[in-house]
Amino acid sequence: MKIAVAGTGYVGLSVALLLAQHNEVHALDIVPDKVAMLNRGRSPIVDREIAEFLDGNASGERPLDFAATLDPAQAYGDAEYAIVATPTNYDSQKNYFDTSSVESAIAAIRAANSSAWIIIKSTVPVGYTQHLRDALGDDRILFSPEFLREGHALYDNLHPSRIVVGAPQSDASALAAATRFAELLAQGADLAEAARANEDGSRGIPQLVVGPTEAEAIKLFANTYLALRVAYFNELDTYADSRGLNAQEIIHGVCLDPRIRDNYNNPSFGYGGYCLPKDTKQLLANYSQVPQNLISAIVDANRTRKDFIATEIERRIEGINKPVVGIYRLTMKSGSDNFRQSAIQGIMKRIKARGVPVIVYEPTLNAADFFGSEVTHDLESFKQRADVIVANRWNDDLVDVGDKVFTRDLFKRD
Ligand SMILES: NC(=O)c1ccc[n+]([C@@H]2O[C@H](COP(=O)([O-])OP(=O)(O)OC[C@H]3O[C@@H](n4cnc5c(N)ncnc54)[C@H](O)[C@@H]3O)[C@@H](O)[C@H]2O)c1
Repeated sequence: MKIAVAGTGYVGLSVALLLAQHNEVHALDIVPDKVAMLNRGRSPIVDREIAEFLDGNASGERPLDFAATLDPAQAYGDAEYAIVATPTNYDSQKNYFDTSSVESAIAAIRAANSSAWIIIKSTVPVGYTQHLRDALGDDRILFSPEFLREGHALYDNLHPSRIVVGAPQSDASALAAATRFAELLAQGADLAEAARANEDGSRGIPQLVVGPTEAEAIKLFANTYLALRVAYFNELDTYADSRGLNAQEIIHGVCLDPRIRDNYNNPSFGYGGYCLPKDTKQLLANYSQVPQNLISAIVDANRTRKDFIATEIERRIEGINKPVVGIYRLTMKSGSDNFRQSAIQGIMKRIKARGVPVIVYEPTLNAADFFGSEVTHDLESFKQRADVIVANRWNDDLVDVGDKVFTRDLFKRD
């Protein structure tokens, strides 16, 4: 089957490679460098499985039917499915969710192909897909939320927790197209996953075909729950730290309850990354006219946590003549290659606003400065010059300057 994918970022590229095991996949991007890299068998993003798939394809060990292109006619013409995985953003000041890249990708798909089933994989506001179907008079637009983590993008598609596709429940051909798409994703997943036994006694990867608006809500409520959990353990840590208690012991004791579980509970400077900040704020905006307390509290809690962390760092430098704060990595997680909306940037902003100079150690950033603060790749001089080294996540690079390090990474894991 010919399948097109618009956007070769974390979502688009991982889905494209997954599907290219059994289908002819053409992935389109508007950035020529990305397309050229992909056609040379190189990944534009850091992701172990994506690199392995591209290497295996180049060596012939894992043949894929995959091509990247800038040409909409090549990508979209004759495709049965066209997947949209382009960026979306939310501006809480203007209360505006920017879905323009999704709309321009859909316009380009329709200019080349009037019959392909369009599957939106980008995260969109609740109600968006139905609105677009109505506004364009196009009943071949569906939505499928993506649950991958950056750095594990293809892995998460090979081992999915669930596959969800949204189609209007009253439209038999849309339901059939949605079910078929879910099967294509399941077919691309690891064989062991396809045979796995689930906690509820079922076998295989759970596949849900629900309404498009419910599918959109699943994505935003799942991410907001994850943000809630991060905010919860961060607030626990703020309390323990303020009262001189051992947060690690408390978290361990709390999480031995099997209903709570010992995961996703490592304190940090706040939730961040590309998705959680925008998705929580977007869900909050979707609540206008609907009573709520918790969703706005999650958004507020993240701000309060960063204020608390900045104050703790300020305390550490009290009494030092002309102190310098070192920011160790701008990335959100260890192993990640991008720092979109990372929480440490919020800390950096707050420290600078208090008039304290900041230097940044970020080996993946090829620039002399980051928002006016010096960037260095020289770890040794960074360690010497900084009076306090602020690290959202611990790294053994810092072992010889452990007494200078400020982190809340209690369990030394993501
Ligand atoms: N990154 C994640 O962890 C993640 C997880 C789940 C869902 N999502 C959602 O998926 C969407 C994409 O996220 P991402 O992280 O893959 O983004 P990304 O920024 O990594 O990639 C987007 C790609 O789309 C390309 N692009 C932009 N406009 C285009 C157009 N008109 N046609 C074709 N290509 C175009 C960009 O050049 C870029 O390569 C977002 O809505 C995001 O919220 C992301």
